[in-house]
Amino acid sequence: MNLRFEAKDGTAQVEGASIFSPEVSDEKRRLRATLRQRRQRLGAGARRRLSVRACARARAVVGRARRIGAYLPHGAELDPTWLMRRLERAGHVVYVPLVGRRADQVLRFTPWRAPFLVNRYGIREPRRRHTIKASQLDLVIVPLVGFDESGTRLGQGGGHYDRTLAHLGRAGLRPQRIGLAFACQQVPMLPRDRHDVPLTAVVTEQRVFRGLRTTYTHSH
Ligand SMILES: Nc1ncnc2c1ncn2[C@@H]1O[C@H](COP(=O)(O)OP(=O)(O)OP(=O)(O)O)[C@@H](O)[C@H]1O
Ligand SMILES: [Mg+2]
Repeated sequence: MNLRFEAKDGTAQVEGASIFSPEVSDEKRRLRATLRQRRQRLGAGARRRLSVRACARARAVVGRARRIGAYLPHGAELDPTWLMRRLERAGHVVYVPLVGRRADQVLRFTPWRAPFLVNRYGIREPRRRHTIKASQLDLVIVPLVGFDESGTRLGQGGGHYDRTLAHLGRAGLRPQRIGLAFACQQVPMLPRDRHDVPLTAVVTEQRVFRGLRTTYTHSH
C-alpha cells in the first residue's frame, strides 16, 4: 500500500510502505513534531479565538447526542470548554476522560462536574461509581495532533483513544467520534495503522469535514 506523507518541502510520496512497517510509526513521530510546532506557533491569543470559532461550528455537529465525552485541554490543544459549557446548558451530559487503573490504559469517562474525593495520596479523583465506559457515550469529542480529510487521526502517540474505541470494530457507530482541531493541523494524507480508529467528523475554525470513513479499513 502506498502512503503519502507531507514533508517540510511539500508532499512526498513513499512507495510501497507497508502498514505494518516501522516507517509508519517513524513517520507518525516526525509528523507529530511538525504539527505540534504549528499548533504552538499560533500563539495563545489566536488559539483562544480559533478555539471558540471551532466550538461554535461543532455545536451543530453534536445534534441530539445526550452523553458527550469531551476533554480538558492540555498545552496548545484546542480548548473545547466553550462548547462544553453550552452543551451542558442545553441539557447534554458532558463527560471528561480518566486514565484507567488497568494496565491496558483504556479511558473511562466521568461527568465533568462530578463530585471528587481526595485519595490517600492527597490527589483529587472522581468517585468510581460515576464513571462510565466509552461505549456508553453517544458521542466523543477527541483532541488530536493531526488529521486528514478521510478522518484519519494522529494523536499524542499513547494509543489511548484507539484502545478505548477498539470495541467499535468494523461497523461500530457509537460513540460517534468528532475531532476538534485548528485548520493548520490538517495534512494531505496521514499514515494509518490498522488499530487507528477513524473519526466520524472533524471540525476546525474554518470548516466541518463530515461523511468520513466510519469503519475500519482493515479487519482485525
Ligand atoms: N486497539 C489496540 N490494542 C492494543 N494496542 C493498541 C491499540 N491501539 C493502539 N495501540 C497501541 O498504541 C500505540 C500508539 O498508537 P498510535 O501511534 O496510533 O497513537 P495515537 O492514536 O496517536 O495516540 P492517542 O490515541 O493516545 O492520542 C501503538 O503502537 C499500539 O501499540
Ligand atoms: Mg492512533
